[in-house]
Amino acid sequence: CGIVGYIGKEEAAPILLDGLSKLEYRGYDSAGVAVFTGKELKVIKSKGRLKLLSDMLDGGRALPGTVGLGHTRWATHGEPSDLNAHPHLSHSGKIAVVHNGIIENYMRLKEMLLAKGVTFRSDTDTEVVAQLLDYFYEGDILKAVAKTVDRLEGSYALGIVCSDCPDRLVAARKDAPLILGYGKSCNFMASDVTAVIRYTKDVCYLDDGEIAVLKEGEITVYNSILTPVEKQRSRVDWEISAAEKGGYEHFMFKEIMEQPKAVRDTLSPRIKNGRVVFENLSLTEEYVRSLNRILIVACGSSYHVGMNAKYIMEKLLRKPVEVVLASEFRYCDPIVDESSLVIVISQSGETADTLAALREAKRRGARTLAVVNVVGSSIAKEANDVIYTWAGPEIAVATTKAYSTQLVILYLITLRFGELLGTIAPEEYDAIVAELQRIPSKIEEILEHREKIQYYASIYFNNSSIFFIGRNLDYAICMEGSLKLKEISYIHSEAYAAGELKHGTISLIEDGTLVVAMANHGRLFDKMVSNIKEVKARGADVLGLTGAKHARALEQVADNVISIPETHEILMPSLAVIPLQLFSYYVALQRGCDIDKPRNLAKSVTVE
Ligand code: G6P
Repeated sequence: CGIVGYIGKEEAAPILLDGLSKLEYRGYDSAGVAVFTGKELKVIKSKGRLKLLSDMLDGGRALPGTVGLGHTRWATHGEPSDLNAHPHLSHSGKIAVVHNGIIENYMRLKEMLLAKGVTFRSDTDTEVVAQLLDYFYEGDILKAVAKTVDRLEGSYALGIVCSDCPDRLVAARKDAPLILGYGKSCNFMASDVTAVIRYTKDVCYLDDGEIAVLKEGEITVYNSILTPVEKQRSRVDWEISAAEKGGYEHFMFKEIMEQPKAVRDTLSPRIKNGRVVFENLSLTEEYVRSLNRILIVACGSSYHVGMNAKYIMEKLLRKPVEVVLASEFRYCDPIVDESSLVIVISQSGETADTLAALREAKRRGARTLAVVNVVGSSIAKEANDVIYTWAGPEIAVATTKAYSTQLVILYLITLRFGELLGTIAPEEYDAIVAELQRIPSKIEEILEHREKIQYYASIYFNNSSIFFIGRNLDYAICMEGSLKLKEISYIHSEAYAAGELKHGTISLIEDGTLVVAMANHGRLFDKMVSNIKEVKARGADVLGLTGAKHARALEQVADNVISIPETHEILMPSLAVIPLQLFSYYVALQRGCDIDKPRNLAKSVTVE
């Protein structure tokens, strides 16, 4: 979910709606605003996209008032409906609340309040917060907030407004992101900086357990026992245009096209005189040598980057690398200790499971290294070391440029570790670094020839089930290609290690089933040809993908072939993923899907 709050001299509703439009990628099944009209708190909310709410409010003009809160929801407790949409009002009608996170003990709190005669209107965990605030409120909203959050278990970013004191907003956080924005005679709160950057670049990141009071001219942040704390302000170093479509039809397409720059920006500060350098990294040579194993923990596409990294690191470092889904890691009693390095990968830096896994790894004594895109995010703050991907803001729910930049960071880490361990021969190191620097222009080359991929999308978009097969790193890329397609086009799809298909799944191949076959490893090319023949013999239509050198040979067995530039074999994933992103995009476009906001999904998942 996304939350935003404004207090100042301007009309609040248009600013809140604008802020929500930047946060919609965090959830979009309902939206709402609460504004103090001068007399009372007015809450307007609606199931469905923000556009609906905006139309109801005539772009905000129909709801006057200079202080308010907004929310865009990704449903957890309670179906998407007008009633379950936020903000939630307390029974006295005096207090309105917006919330991101999950209140895990809400049932117990609700029963306690029901027993005291409080009535509830919604099925949400959030309404419990509003009612509890009312229950504790004795004329001082800050004290009521402190008492309330003290009773809450789970995660929350909260925005609160009370009609008795409309000169202030209150914000509180635990395990869900919340930033404060300092404006001129106005102040903001929001789930992330994209919502406020149009108005201010001067922000601070609220920490767990803190409560903030925002007035028109000042912000005061308190700890949990209401002692004021000094906060460090940060300056956001990107422009609002980075979070806007800039003439493109979709954010996803814009972000695909931005990949050469994103990869270049991520690489170039870390390569000096042909060597990989990470400034401010506390990992010593002695520590890297002492490592027994490396674990990579992440969710979704970030997990797929980990799958690539396993092949790359094991090959070049000769150390065991395990890749674990964060949601599994946290409850599996993982075997990690001081001799393990846990690398967590996260675009948002806020994924609840990844954050919990990071904490679990630290608790067990492991060192943690985070690869994160969002500066100041929880994972970036809590890891022992952080390496930022400089992808810039990524808005489309389906990740593209963040994935590509994560991948190059993992290459750089491997090169640096390989140098320290002496497991990469100097000439191979130089060859990889040289090729890595050519990756942005090779991505550009693939993007320039995108019409061919658009054409393949136009012939295959009606398939009801698509299989991606490949071996080794190609298998890792298949996982990402398949997820991308599922996410945005709603076509059933599976990624299979090419040699494994015959152990069951090949029974699903029938006349006309599309199989996307990746063949980017010279060493394994002939094996892939055999696997392609196996599926062809069962009626599959094969779309092959390979480096220019093998394109001719692949054309002999596949129905159609996408050829990409050649590079060092371990770097092929950086190129091979691009056509798959484009393929998913064009297929979804053909099918008329809502590409940037696919059904049921959210970009930043701050709940378990
Ligand atoms: C969500 C997104 C995915 C993303 C995953 C992990 O499910 O829809 O695209 O890969 O979260 O997100 P993170 O921010 O941790 O990389």
